[in-house]
Amino acid sequence: MRVGVLTGGGDCPGLNAVIRSVVRKGVDAYGFDFVGLRDGWFGLLHDVVRPLDIARVRGILPRGGTILGSSRTNPFAHEDGLRRMRDTLAAHDVDALVVIGGEDTLGVATELSRHGVPLVGVPKTIDNDVSGTDFTFGFDTAVGIATEAIDRLHTTAESHMRALVVEVMGRHSGWIALHAGVAGGGNVILIPERPFDIDQVCEQVKSRFKINYAPIVVVAEGAVPKEGQMVLKDQSRDEFDHVRLSGVGEWLAREISERTGKDARTTVLGHVQRGGTPSAFDRWLATRFGLHAIDAVKDGDFGVMVALQGTRIVRVPLADATAQAKRVDPSLYDEFEVFFG
Ligand code: F6P
Repeated sequence: MRVGVLTGGGDCPGLNAVIRSVVRKGVDAYGFDFVGLRDGWFGLLHDVVRPLDIARVRGILPRGGTILGSSRTNPFAHEDGLRRMRDTLAAHDVDALVVIGGEDTLGVATELSRHGVPLVGVPKTIDNDVSGTDFTFGFDTAVGIATEAIDRLHTTAESHMRALVVEVMGRHSGWIALHAGVAGGGNVILIPERPFDIDQVCEQVKSRFKINYAPIVVVAEGAVPKEGQMVLKDQSRDEFDHVRLSGVGEWLAREISERTGKDARTTVLGHVQRGGTPSAFDRWLATRFGLHAIDAVKDGDFGVMVALQGTRIVRVPLADATAQAKRVDPSLYDEFEVFFG
């Protein structure tokens, strides 16, 4: 059997660990051979296909990024997308695909699977917002990076007795903001699931200053004020119709300064959260996902996504996993109420 592997969407620490484990087990245990599709769906759409074998996956376990490249190409937004993808599969005798991606990439996989293409999905994203799995790989690394940044910001905020706003990634969900905010001792944590009241944020900031404590505000890039709209620096959209986020952190610091009379600054962590070497947990999870994904291919169990539930790796229908994003449960957020303000 020949298996095609692709990585789509924003990159994420642990992608290479999945590729390595899919290829290692596929070759050693099942005698499969592999091809890599370059830059996610772009490679399948434009027939950009590369050899992939054990020699090519040697040494990549601790490396961030993806040796296959990635893009936000949406093949269904292109004329004749389905036919062109089928042509590429046929031209290279690809029998099945392993698709490693987040909500958009796996959404395309769901559609492709409905059209009869045999494939298995692997959930990746630092945002941790794919349904059906307790965690996606990449998330743990991102939370570690954001927590370290918050730790560092505490001491400089204290030295200048100013408010520091930290903007982290999280388009639809506040998993990174909540986990890193709690781990780093943030005083205000703002997530997309819970539109925030700017007056309340300023009250929480002021109450910290009153006890001689420099407040740290952790905000997810997708957080929105109750009054008004999402704050954006840029209106451009990708092929999945997503706007480029970022801007809410700077807006918050300006509002805090104006409304409280205190100095406030912003740090936008951005792609630092996605780059570099994966944490041990992400390497472990990505490796397990890869092993179980290639088992599903071997079993002919297509149209599924591998997922972590508790400590077990299970298979869930792709259509269920991509029906909606996984959000932070309000009751989980409320658990930390005592630390806010
Ligand atoms: O893939 C998820 C994500 O990390 C989002 O949180 C963020 O909005 C997006 O990627 C930004 O990615 P890029 O700059 O590559 O478009």
